Amino acid sequence: MDARNTVETAARIAGGDRSRYDPVAMSLHWATVLLVLANFALAETWEAFARPTRHLMVATHMSFGILLGAAVIARIVWRLIPGHQMKPAVSGFAELASRAVHWLLYLLLIAQAVLGFVLRWSGGEAMSFFGLQLPSPMETVSRATNHEIGEVHENVGWAIVILAAAHAAAALYHHLVVKDDVMRRMLPRRAGDGRG
Ligand code: HEM
Ligand code: HEM
Repeated sequence: MDARNTVETAARIAGGDRSRYDPVAMSLHWATVLLVLANFALAETWEAFARPTRHLMVATHMSFGILLGAAVIARIVWRLIPGHQMKPAVSGFAELASRAVHWLLYLLLIAQAVLGFVLRWSGGEAMSFFGLQLPSPMETVSRATNHEIGEVHENVGWAIVILAAAHAAAALYHHLVVKDDVMRRMLPRRAGDGRG
């Protein structure tokens, strides 16, 4: 191995020598987006449906919620492994702001999954994962407290959606106005596109 290769390998192990997120990070990002949108749409519309359909929508929300929690944990573990880090796309205040938004999104998504379990279990009901019933291991709380947990879960859901919309707007601004590579970092390579 010549000196240049050694330096390149060292850079790869340290991380941050790519111009794109790796396929695992990208897949987890876009799976997270789909699951958040699906869960938001389900939760905001299930009231309008009658029982068998509404029941199916709530059960789907729970299953997707567990998948969402797992995708977020997998992403955090993946990015901690040496060689999986990306160099920041921007510097100064923009770097600080984007880091803060990304970590706040991760924090809110984890909190939302925990609240989802607590909401269901503290009401004395089983959590459901594609037909598998996960019974409550905790004490049941009063109806009023359970209702409050539901309110917190709903507000955190709105916070995630609003923050993610601002984050998506920032990505689109980079792509359409600044015309830099920020958006491409999270998109698969197209044929004929030589970069990373
Ligand atoms: C960003 C994503 C999410 C949004 C926007 C969202 C939104 C909501 C809303 C608005 C409700 C109704 C709350 C109420 O009745 O007071 C709800 C209920 C619920 N959510 Fe979520 N949620 C999300 C993610 C999750 C996750 C990750 C989980 C679990 C891991 C989860 C589990 C539940 C459960 C168990 C219920 C109660 C269903 C019932 O028994 O009626 N949610 N969600
Ligand atoms: C629910 C919706 C979304 C959530 C929760 C979310 C969350 C995140 C998080 C946590 C990161 C940081 C990745 C990491 O380094 O670990 C990220 C990066 C990114 N997201 Fe999203 N995202 C959402 C929607 C979108 C949408 C709709 C777009 C595009 C329009 C987008 C474009 C990007 C881009 C371009 C990056 C990479 C930024 C960089 O290179 O620093 N995201 N997203």
